[in-house]
Amino acid sequence: MKNCVDEIMELLLVSYQLDIRGFDPSFVDKSVGRRLMACNNIASVNYLELLKQSREEVTHLIDSLHISYSEFFRNPLTFAYLEQFVLPQLKYKKRKGAKTELRIWSAACASGQEAYSVAILLDEMNQESAEKIGYRIFATDNNMEELEKARLGIFKPSSLQKVSLKRIQCYFVQNNENYSILPSIKKLIDFSFFDLLEEQPASPAPSIYGNFDLVICSNLLFYYAPAFRKRILDKLRKNMSTDAFLVTGETEREILMKNGFSEVYEHSSIFQRNLHN
Ligand SMILES: C[S@@+](CC[C@H](N)C(=O)[O-])C[C@H]1O[C@@H](n2cnc3c(N)ncnc32)[C@H](O)[C@@H]1O
Repeated sequence: MKNCVDEIMELLLVSYQLDIRGFDPSFVDKSVGRRLMACNNIASVNYLELLKQSREEVTHLIDSLHISYSEFFRNPLTFAYLEQFVLPQLKYKKRKGAKTELRIWSAACASGQEAYSVAILLDEMNQESAEKIGYRIFATDNNMEELEKARLGIFKPSSLQKVSLKRIQCYFVQNNENYSILPSIKKLIDFSFFDLLEEQPASPAPSIYGNFDLVICSNLLFYYAPAFRKRILDKLRKNMSTDAFLVTGETEREILMKNGFSEVYEHSSIFQRNLHN
């Protein structure tokens, strides 16, 4: 590894009791590369020395590994598939099975943009049809600060770059330079703490049991080492109903295909689990 990733992992563990071995080495390598640049292009051997001496630099490095960037309708193609095919199909199946409520989970929701985007799609689907469908959206993350922002529902314009003007007018209220999501949409989502790597609880507590029809876990798996990705995917799988859909980030498609999932529409980042799984 070009930036002494193994040595850095060892040093953080032994000297600072910080275990970052769960992160994917190539992701750690990129983060270290960014820190080397931020420290005036310091050489990696000298960076190792700096980490030994400076607790402040250790904090910078650890912070750089915890990315919580998100935006509304982040992957437009995926959201188009959700709108055009997945949500109508789930609605049809529910009605056929005489069930009236869709169960949706945004796992690793950051400050809520993904969960709110799905809530907007569902609200539009119900507005456009005489046959309404009930739904419950659970959104979880292991970062309390992000969850607080999600509950607040106030967003910078940069978060809304992929939202159409029509949707901005229908679902947001502008407060100075920021945008607040409508209370009627906010109340549709239950935000709570949930660590996908903890063994217990098995499902987000407010949802009581999993059995979700749609799980969105995007832009999280690629940060973790393969064994940790598997643990997260096993957990998601246990929370999905048999024919549920799982949505990931576009750069994570290969991870899913290697772990017992098949892509439903090509390049969509929308998956269902393989039958034997
Ligand atoms: C880059 S953000 C992705 C947000 C959103 N899903 C999206 O695609 O825009 C990654 C999020 O995963 C959360 N996260 C990282 N590890 C987690 C874990 N073990 N359990 C729950 N959430 C986790 C972080 O706190 C962060 O908010």
